[in-house]
Amino acid sequence: MGTLQAVSGMNDLLPGDGTTARWQRLEADFRAVCSRYGFAEVRTPLCESLELFQRGVGETTDIVEKEMYTFKDRGDRTLALRPEGTASAVRAALEHRVLDREPVVRWSYLGAMFRAERPAKGRYRQFHQVGAEIYGDASAAADAEVIDLATSFLASLGITQCTVRLNSLGGPDARARYRDALVAYFTPHRDALSPDSASRLERNPLRILDSKDPRDQPLKAAAPSILDSLGDEDRAHFELLQQYLRALGVPFEVTPSLVRGLDYYTRTVFEIVDTSGSLGAQDTLCGGGRYDALFTELGSHAPVPAIGFAMGIERLLLAAPQPEAPKPFRVAVVAAAKSHETPVLAAALALAKELRANGVTATVDTRFGSMKSQMRRADDLGSTVVLVLGGNEVANGTVTMKRMATGEQQSLPRAESIHTLATEALGAR
Ligand code: HAM
Repeated sequence: MGTLQAVSGMNDLLPGDGTTARWQRLEADFRAVCSRYGFAEVRTPLCESLELFQRGVGETTDIVEKEMYTFKDRGDRTLALRPEGTASAVRAALEHRVLDREPVVRWSYLGAMFRAERPAKGRYRQFHQVGAEIYGDASAAADAEVIDLATSFLASLGITQCTVRLNSLGGPDARARYRDALVAYFTPHRDALSPDSASRLERNPLRILDSKDPRDQPLKAAAPSILDSLGDEDRAHFELLQQYLRALGVPFEVTPSLVRGLDYYTRTVFEIVDTSGSLGAQDTLCGGGRYDALFTELGSHAPVPAIGFAMGIERLLLAAPQPEAPKPFRVAVVAAAKSHETPVLAAALALAKELRANGVTATVDTRFGSMKSQMRRADDLGSTVVLVLGGNEVANGTVTMKRMATGEQQSLPRAESIHTLATEALGAR
């Protein structure tokens, strides 16, 4: 029988090369930045009813039309692995009536998302997002804070070569006017459009602007600008947002062709793209925007304004510099005993346990081979200190402590060694 492999586009993260540690640091950074901005973490299930994404993300989006993992469960319900986090978080906020208790909610999340896209560098079928959302605040100041949170987080990762692209899609009236303008513009050129875009001309012409198909590019470039369709209030909101961003020192580029690939956006939309070139074609680090109609779309009686963003963790890690991780402080306990000398081996296990209870990272090579092989293993693991325990030490209540960097060795009482190492471990943190 052949060996089995992970599903194409779904990756393992291995600890040996430091990958898991990089992920953990990024996740910790995200949680820290979010908490400074007053966002609290929500966790929702990995799968939901298919209907949530059909209604939430939009029937004519690429995600819903082509990319979702859907299946029937044993109760014949049609479910989907979540392709994004926004619809699920809104569903949870509505289901638990969160806005009845708090007028404004700031939520963050991180976790796996699933889209059956063609795998490439920076594009996977199981990928991971960090995201943040604000519910119950229609102000341009909320938009500014969300974008500022996103750029602060990127800065905390050391990602400096990136650009914020900003646009406004307006409210429902502006969208309707713009839709008509696009239909009028594209219809005479229908035959020159890609088949996908031609089929979207009546159903959802805005999607044509999101097409990556080379056949659509010349027509897209000369298409009317959404900014000409904005009403006065949309325009005032967009102007105010730009003023706030300037005050916060967040540089941005107004990009009238930016429409984003999901249907729920109203007014503000934005993306942050990597400009270092390290990501190739998949250079969008962050996508977000306002979605003031999604709550009602998903069954809310009262409208709830909302805005948020999500970023792909894999892409962030491709774009972020990789500083040398500091060498952790670790202690190895080595038993100077033969394999049948159970009391000494047990004492070694107990010593490691006590070190750990005192906040020290401690290992024991539980295969208990020769002293030489235990010492070699301690060295391979990058141990800072080795504690050697033999029959005499156990009898006297002492240990032999060896510092790996200098080779310096001393015998000291067991309790004192634990105290010393606990203090050093604390200092190394
Ligand atoms: P999105 O633009 O579909 O927006 O995805 C956001 C980010 O997720 C992208 O910019 C990219 O970094 C990452 N991403 C998306 N697909 C993949 C993939 N196949 N492989 C790797 N990374 C990927 C949303 O998901 C919205 N829910 C964002 C949002 C939140 N809008 C408002 N609130």
